[in-house]
Amino acid sequence: MKGLEKIKKIDLAYKPTPLYKLNNISLITGKNIFVKRDDMTGIGLGGNKVRKLEYLLADAIKCGADTIITTGAAQSNHAMLTAACCRKLGLDVILVLLKRGVTEKKGNLLLNDLMGVEVVFVDSDRTQDLYAEINRISDQLKAAGKTPYTIPIGASVPLGVLGYVDCVKEMIEQSRDQDIKIDHIVCCTGSGGTYAGLLLGAKLFKPEIKVTGIAVTLDDFYPVVKELVNQSCDLIKAGPISIEDDIHLFNYAGDGYAIPSERGNAAINLMARNEGLFLDPVYTGKTFGGLLDLIDDGYFEEDENIVFLHTGGAASIFAFM
Ligand SMILES: Cc1ncc(COP(=O)(O)O)c(C=O)c1O
Repeated sequence: MKGLEKIKKIDLAYKPTPLYKLNNISLITGKNIFVKRDDMTGIGLGGNKVRKLEYLLADAIKCGADTIITTGAAQSNHAMLTAACCRKLGLDVILVLLKRGVTEKKGNLLLNDLMGVEVVFVDSDRTQDLYAEINRISDQLKAAGKTPYTIPIGASVPLGVLGYVDCVKEMIEQSRDQDIKIDHIVCCTGSGGTYAGLLLGAKLFKPEIKVTGIAVTLDDFYPVVKELVNQSCDLIKAGPISIEDDIHLFNYAGDGYAIPSERGNAAINLMARNEGLFLDPVYTGKTFGGLLDLIDDGYFEEDENIVFLHTGGAASIFAFM
């Protein structure tokens, strides 16, 4: 895929991340369940944002940026990982976060503090107010002769999506080496970019792989994913790709984003007790809970090999549980 290779990225993640079978969970559920350990991408506490940041921070450097500004919830994994990558690359970083939920120095806020990162809280429920604050800070920095670069929430923009197109390529190579046939990938959907990337990657490199997203916010991700896939196709000059019938999304937000759910917490316990693997209460626990429910509902084919993408988020265990 020449268009993809032409886009600049920085090597930030430790790759390939492991792919292996969850033997005990597979026995319990009667399904072949594998895990792709993108919680082991190697910077901060690991997680999915590092692959996206490989493209976005390369772009920032290309644009001559010296200060990265990004945004999200108070306990945003994305914000913490952006800060960690910036520390590694020697870039300044400012995090503009919503002053809602767990705002004490716990979880990701503790990690931001350890990195000495500047955090600006916005006392609002509206994401528009985050971007208004970002614009204000950007203008101030420019007036002081700096070159800021803004990364939107979750890095779910076309450049970021490409990180998960790469991940599909990586999984296909691993499946060849390990002689496993991947039939289905299940991932968390929080701002849409990871799911869009996996879907596009599957379409480009192995269209028979089905990709299912489990949403952990109450938003409707169908239009978001469709738009992101189309824009990413344009970016890599892949031509128009029809994905309308391939978008499979389920909602397991429960009472809402960052409100732990009984289903999610039960999934966290099951994974910890049987595989020694930690999921988190905001993203991956709810996602794995959704996957288990879908098994019970007969959603997967009889002998499918299912890959659960572990997207990280460990710091939330210490903020929310
Ligand atoms: C741990 C974790 N998993 C999954 C996601 C969701 O990924 P995306 O925002 O690309 O949908 C996020 C995003 O914030 C995350 O932090």
